[in-house]
Amino acid sequence: MSTDSTSPQLHAVTDEAVQTLRDGGLVAFPTETVYGLGADARNAQAIGKVFATKGRPSNHPLIVHVAAPDIFDQASIDWVAVVAPWARDISEDAIKLMNAFWPGPLTLIFKKDRSVLSEITGGQDTVAIRAPAHPMAQELIRKLKSGIVGPSANRFGKVSPTSAADVRSEFAGELGLMILDGGDCRVGIESTIIDLSSGDHPVLLRPGIITPKDIYAKTGITVHLPGQEVKANELPRVSGSLKAHYAPTTPLRLYSPGRVLDALSEFPDTKTRVAVAVWDSESALSEDGHPSVHFEEVVVPSDSTAFATRLYRTLRDLDEQGWDLILIPEPPSGQEWDGVRDRLQRACFGSGPSSSNHASN
Ligand code: TXA
Ligand code: MG
Repeated sequence: MSTDSTSPQLHAVTDEAVQTLRDGGLVAFPTETVYGLGADARNAQAIGKVFATKGRPSNHPLIVHVAAPDIFDQASIDWVAVVAPWARDISEDAIKLMNAFWPGPLTLIFKKDRSVLSEITGGQDTVAIRAPAHPMAQELIRKLKSGIVGPSANRFGKVSPTSAADVRSEFAGELGLMILDGGDCRVGIESTIIDLSSGDHPVLLRPGIITPKDIYAKTGITVHLPGQEVKANELPRVSGSLKAHYAPTTPLRLYSPGRVLDALSEFPDTKTRVAVAVWDSESALSEDGHPSVHFEEVVVPSDSTAFATRLYRTLRDLDEQGWDLILIPEPPSGQEWDGVRDRLQRACFGSGPSSSNHASN
């Protein structure tokens, strides 16, 4: 479907969506990362519905999505004015980061403005803000003339949706949930989150497609990793940082190069139908000789950006195909793979039929 911000169809859709948000309803909306489950960030009751619909504990804070006015010259956007209603203590680093990466897949944590509802922040004195790049999300936010809270539009602990159809299948029971279809998500994994609220150095809370290296190259800002001179218990709570997350119902494991059979040893009741992802840069699996196991190969991109775009799609599709086990090659080292590695490790930990017991977000 078209995401051209000038198309009349788009305007019609967002008018109805804006009314739904004004009336305190929820609207699932596309962003370049994943689909969000949106509510007006100034409406406490509507925010309550987001938590209830997702099944998310109320102390897990939400991101406020903002948009710049629709101006022709992107370089002249005054991001400080855009975040001012929500955040305070906006540092020079923050301005550099917003100018370099917004609109885009980067979320920044600020000290919150007093007016920000505590329902959004889980009672913390900080707020997460992001300006999404998807034109439909921008149109929706601009017309509402508010911010939109938007956790990923999935049930708590499950795989994030990267298409309108994914959202529909996540919330099949929620009759009447309005879903804006903005096509498939370009990035495919959630935004990078950087905490600027300590007033000290920026800290990476969630890796994503924008890496600390990219940030340094574009702004000269050094992003610290959690634990690097910062005690873990001083960090704000990030539910996405819990061990289990983004999890399929089918057991999922990573395998090291050439060690497919090792990964199976964890499953003594030999699995009979196993989906094995292989890099597109490699030829077929060398080890297909296990007598009682039927392996089927699924080719995955060896480019990190392309892999991220396809990651949740692949997990959802494989989950629906009824495999006994899914094996995915361990991503190579390097920051460009950190976002993908992070999601895969959590997905492994939370995977399997009992995943709802220890899921998050
Ligand atoms: O790409 C994204 O960020 C997507 C799209 C829809 O924008 N949204 C998303 O939202 O991933 P959600 O709610 O699934 O994840 C937001 C993460 C959570 O891990 C939450 O704990 C963290 O952001 N977060 C929100 N506010 C925070 C705060 N004040 N301090 C620390 N972490 C915060
Ligand atoms: Mg999420």
